[in-house]
Amino acid sequence: MKKLIIANWKMHYGPLKAGAWVRAFRRERLPKDLDVAVAAPFVSLAAVRASLGRASIPALAAQDAFWANEGAFTGEIAPVMLSEFSCAYCLVGHSERRINLGETDEMVAKKAAVLQKAGISPVICVGETETQRRKGEQDKIVRAQLTAAVAGLKGDGRAVPVVAYEPVWAIGTGRPCTPQHAKDMHGNLRGVLKKKFGAAADHVRIVYGGSVDLRNIGEFLTTTGIDGALVGGASLDPRNFALLCRAAIPA
Ligand code: 13P
Repeated sequence: MKKLIIANWKMHYGPLKAGAWVRAFRRERLPKDLDVAVAAPFVSLAAVRASLGRASIPALAAQDAFWANEGAFTGEIAPVMLSEFSCAYCLVGHSERRINLGETDEMVAKKAAVLQKAGISPVICVGETETQRRKGEQDKIVRAQLTAAVAGLKGDGRAVPVVAYEPVWAIGTGRPCTPQHAKDMHGNLRGVLKKKFGAAADHVRIVYGGSVDLRNIGEFLTTTGIDGALVGGASLDPRNFALLCRAAIPA
């Protein structure tokens, strides 16, 4: 499976800076055998698309979507609107949304299903908090999160989901989990996918997120079972992010 690295800008970069980021990133050399995507704020998606021109890398990703395609839902963005932008991916259930906006497993599941129907691969984010880890509940928690999120998904090869394992305590702290911890957890998550999708689970990438940077990306991506990375802080500088992509897949 081709590895996938997604930049998650979070709430950074309006249209002006987003366009400049893409133009700078496009000047960098990238490994051929790597899928790269940028999860931009909604209002910056058009600028990212425009700055890409005819280029297809990085692919476009959104950071969230609503669970219906039309209707009286003030302020929300529908999956079909994102497919008009040719978004390839959309994050769902990021811990920052679960924590700050009260997103539940049920909401995440509904969003993932509508996105997939709209032809967009949902990037399902799961991960335990520090407290849950201290109690030794991490396996149970992330398994439950993923089981709920994939309930309405199909394994027919269209808009194949991606799973992002992001331990909450590792996000933005400069304290990533060890590749071994990620490997164990990815194995755990792979089991959930097998149960749901059977052989089609082999096509679902499980990526790691949480303080991934230029120094540790190589070790994560050479660890068995880690199919890519979801990168926050280290994606904000286009040159640094390009270097990170290069370090991920050594020539
Ligand atoms: P950091 O890479 O800044 O830790 O953020 C990770 C993350 O939340 C990506 O979605």
